[in-house]
Amino acid sequence: MEKKSLLFSLAIIVTFSLASCSSQGDALPNKKGTSPAQFSQVRYHGGPLLAKPSPINVYLIWYGAFTRKERSTITDFFVSFNSSNSSTTDSKRGQPTVSKWWKTIQSYKDKSGHPISGSVRLVKIIGDKYSLGKNIKRIQIAQLVEKKIESNTLPVDYNAVYFVLTAKDVAVERFCISSCGFHDNTNILTKGKVVFAHVGDSSSQCRGFCAWPYAPNYGPLEKPLVAPNSVGTDGMVVNIATVLAGAVTNPFRNGYYQGYDHAPLEAVSACAGKFGNGAYPGFPGKLLVDRATNASYNAYGANGRKFLLPAMWDPVRLSCNVV
Ligand SMILES: *[C@@H]1O[C@H](CO)[C@@H](O)[C@H](O)[C@H]1NC(C)=O
Ligand SMILES: *[C@@H]1O[C@H](CO)[C@@H](O)[C@H](O)[C@H]1NC(C)=O
Repeated sequence: MEKKSLLFSLAIIVTFSLASCSSQGDALPNKKGTSPAQFSQVRYHGGPLLAKPSPINVYLIWYGAFTRKERSTITDFFVSFNSSNSSTTDSKRGQPTVSKWWKTIQSYKDKSGHPISGSVRLVKIIGDKYSLGKNIKRIQIAQLVEKKIESNTLPVDYNAVYFVLTAKDVAVERFCISSCGFHDNTNILTKGKVVFAHVGDSSSQCRGFCAWPYAPNYGPLEKPLVAPNSVGTDGMVVNIATVLAGAVTNPFRNGYYQGYDHAPLEAVSACAGKFGNGAYPGFPGKLLVDRATNASYNAYGANGRKFLLPAMWDPVRLSCNVV
């Protein structure tokens, strides 16, 4: 009991100290088991959302070297948003899936009452062989996306999120220090703003920080969970889910968030650390366990994949929904 309350206080301190040095839409480390949303709410600030009736388009840029397995895991994650592809075989019908997890997003509506689309579509994937080196600033992430669009490698798309996913040997400003990923927007060809995001593979830089609960974060006594795919990619999936939800609900810093606009807690980051029911600091909540591998997860995806997805703030029920 005493240990639990100590962890609780630590988590609160970490929450506030990290929040004060982060910026737009960061995926903070998953150390917080207690949602600040319990103390105040994620509110709508009246600005535009990615709320076109068409699916939200996703473009992926693999920055640096990823293995085939890493790429197929994350590609399958995006493909899983289409419920026709999620593995709901008869024996699994009624089970949690990635597409079901995303359903909560449709409760987020813009000023005109338009909900965010319940469909996400992976449109194009490209690679980049370290064109900016292995130590990059956040502004360079924006410039990379601009360059890929202006050279027609990727189309310009205002109903999309452009993801830059960096390999484990790439250091990105603030990544692994105060952030596990972020989203922002940038002007393209002076015509309009596109939304982009960054998530890095933390496996060799800060796995306990960005890939918890698959790596220990609460000290030497903590036993990490077994990852269904791999520690690095399953950590990336959690952070991709976090920044994707933040990007569509708060694309221009005036959508849905809690707290200050320079350090917002958003749709998923407001529920950080919670993955299943009964979560508390150091415990992600009750999850499913694969009997053959002992891997912990909470959602099924395309091609028989198992994933771990973070809880999402439900603006109607005013609570954090688990899958
Ligand atoms: C979902 O997948 C089905 C079957 O592959 C396809 O017909 C449909 O167009 C997809 N929907 C979206 C939004 O991509
Ligand atoms: C799963 O966990 C059980 C109990 O801790 C252990 O006996 C078994 O060897 C584990 N299986 C695998 C595949 O790691």
